Amino acid sequence: MNVLILETTCDETAAALVTDTLQVRGAVVASQQRLHERFGGVVPEIASRAHVERILPVVDETLRQAGASLADVDAVAVANTPGLAGSLLVGLSAAKALCLALGKPLVAVNHLQAHVYACRIAAGRDVFPCVALVVSGGHTCLFRCRDPLHFQLLGNTIDDAAGEAFDKVASMLGLPFPGGPAVQRVAEQGNPRAYAFPRPMLHASGGLDFSFSGLKTAVRYQIAGAGEDLDAARQRLAPQTIADIAASFQEAVIDVLVAKSMAALRQCGDRILCVGGGVAANRPFRQRLEQQAAQQGIQLYIPPLSLCTDNAVMGAIALERLRAGLTEPLDLDAYPGPMRAV
Ligand code: KG4
Ligand code: ZN
Repeated sequence: MNVLILETTCDETAAALVTDTLQVRGAVVASQQRLHERFGGVVPEIASRAHVERILPVVDETLRQAGASLADVDAVAVANTPGLAGSLLVGLSAAKALCLALGKPLVAVNHLQAHVYACRIAAGRDVFPCVALVVSGGHTCLFRCRDPLHFQLLGNTIDDAAGEAFDKVASMLGLPFPGGPAVQRVAEQGNPRAYAFPRPMLHASGGLDFSFSGLKTAVRYQIAGAGEDLDAARQRLAPQTIADIAASFQEAVIDVLVAKSMAALRQCGDRILCVGGGVAANRPFRQRLEQQAAQQGIQLYIPPLSLCTDNAVMGAIALERLRAGLTEPLDLDAYPGPMRAV
């Protein structure tokens, strides 16, 4: 059995053809990074128009890679939540049209659950039950996952997502978009203890929720004093100061993400941690997680970089839904967000 998976939640147009034994026969990601970088962030209208242009060529290329044709597709899966409304609608419309034309079932994919399932795919074996942390540009969520079909939301960001904070701090420091990889690169030359930025909501009353906007504001005031122009102040920063700010900011985010994940594991009595989403591509974050997991006897699953950032392969969680008989009618809607209870 082959499932064709479409992913258009944000600014990557992606498709994959995956078998019921999780063999990836074809996978394509068309990045829109070059279209958005001069704006310093994703422009939703540009993203949805680019998805319209790319979705069919991306499907064609995926099938070509797999040496397959549409006749070999047994079901079509699509991420319909959460994401940008216009972007979600492109993938959803394409998936529905394919289902109608081929007479095959439609399967809905929750993009955040798919980020967790990337761990299952990369591990090549069961990772459930587990605690899962999803850290992406739009979300910072902790889940308790009983199995691939039952996710309970334990904690969420109350303002900015971790990736969003990376992107905004990068922009304040004059670094290119997307900010995460740029901050990581510059931070390699910096001292993570140069500035004592806040570790938001680490106190017990913060529970398992996250907040990154205060940290972002602290970085802003480190660059420029109150009433001072940010751009002018940045021009005066020495490269070493930029590196030190980047490293100290990154260290604060890592401290919070790791501490909350460990707290969630304790709270749930679990020993398996799955981590997914674009920020999970961050090298010092991965190293710290590995260190902590080894120290505390936690089994850690983080996918390779290509399965951390947005891709369609992770949507193979659709196979779990298909096996459970969870297919959708063709009037399935897109749910941009926020994170829906699952
Ligand atoms: O999961 P993803 O590809 O898309 C969303 O679903 O949002 O995540 C994108 C986010 C961006 O904010 C980007 O800056 C961040 O992941 N990111 C990183 C790194 N690579 C990507 N953040 C920190 N370090 C990285 N190496
Ligand atoms: Zn994502």
